[in-house]
Amino acid sequence: MTDRYCVIGNPIAHSKSPEIHAVFAAQTGQDISYERCLAPLDGFAETVRNLVAQGYKGANVTVPFKIEAVGVASRLSERALAAGAVNTLSFTNGEIVGDNTDGPGLVADIVQNAGVTLAGKRILLLGAGGAARGIMLPFIEGGPQSILVANRTRATADSLVASFSGHDVELAACGVDEIAGPFDIVINATSSSLSDAMPPVPASAFAKETLALDIMYGSAPSPFMAFAAAQGASTRDGLGMLVEQAAEAFTVWRGVRPDTGDVLTQLRYAIASFNSKEK
Ligand code: ATR
Repeated sequence: MTDRYCVIGNPIAHSKSPEIHAVFAAQTGQDISYERCLAPLDGFAETVRNLVAQGYKGANVTVPFKIEAVGVASRLSERALAAGAVNTLSFTNGEIVGDNTDGPGLVADIVQNAGVTLAGKRILLLGAGGAARGIMLPFIEGGPQSILVANRTRATADSLVASFSGHDVELAACGVDEIAGPFDIVINATSSSLSDAMPPVPASAFAKETLALDIMYGSAPSPFMAFAAAQGASTRDGLGMLVEQAAEAFTVWRGVRPDTGDVLTQLRYAIASFNSKEK
């Protein structure tokens, strides 16, 4: 019997996850279906209960429900707990297990697709909201030399860093006017690109060897990517992260890891002529 999965969000029509999981299923010979599921803004928990009742095996969770999904899960993985957000639910043995594959997806994109290791690197993380929080533990586990979290609202960066103390990595927080670079890796985890805005970051954050990655993607480079490229940095958008977080969710559900190379190439080609943003 075909095992059913879906992605829950609001809005959801723009989601590329069904196409990505369809390719993974065909490639690995897994008999699954995967649809878009629009949940009312005040009806996420009920939507999940209905899916469980209908025999679904799991669901991805996207904007704006990732934090609410923490409360809906009956058990959380270590990485979901650290992220304070859930993007992958598994419905197994009467349990709703919450996991988070966003951060691991970003790390996989940097390490495997961009060929950049995290070990020993100086990392600048712009933003201290939900997206930044989800990235922290997988980044720390990559063994960088340091992670500096810079945020427009300094206090939010302070409390994010404080909640990850006790690891063998130099962690620090600062305001956006205190950033002193250059860094090996700069991640734009603010939501600035959603409004085509530039997050406050000085040119001195970048050098020729810097990898500058925006977790958003669109048909054109974000203002952050354009600025980083003008300083000579290598740039990357969030499309690889999108595909890799999906591959990690597929692995959690099916126990088999799909190959992401072809999907990434196909999507890259498709969005070149299609203006879309997702994270
Ligand atoms: P998300 O889930 O996308 O992380 P969020 O939790 O609302 O969303 O966090 C948004 C982050 O982007 C915050 O760090 C926010 O900075 P503040 O804490 O100062 O609000 C940051 N942000 C959003 N728009 C920005 C902009 N135009 N410039 C700089 N930072 C921005």
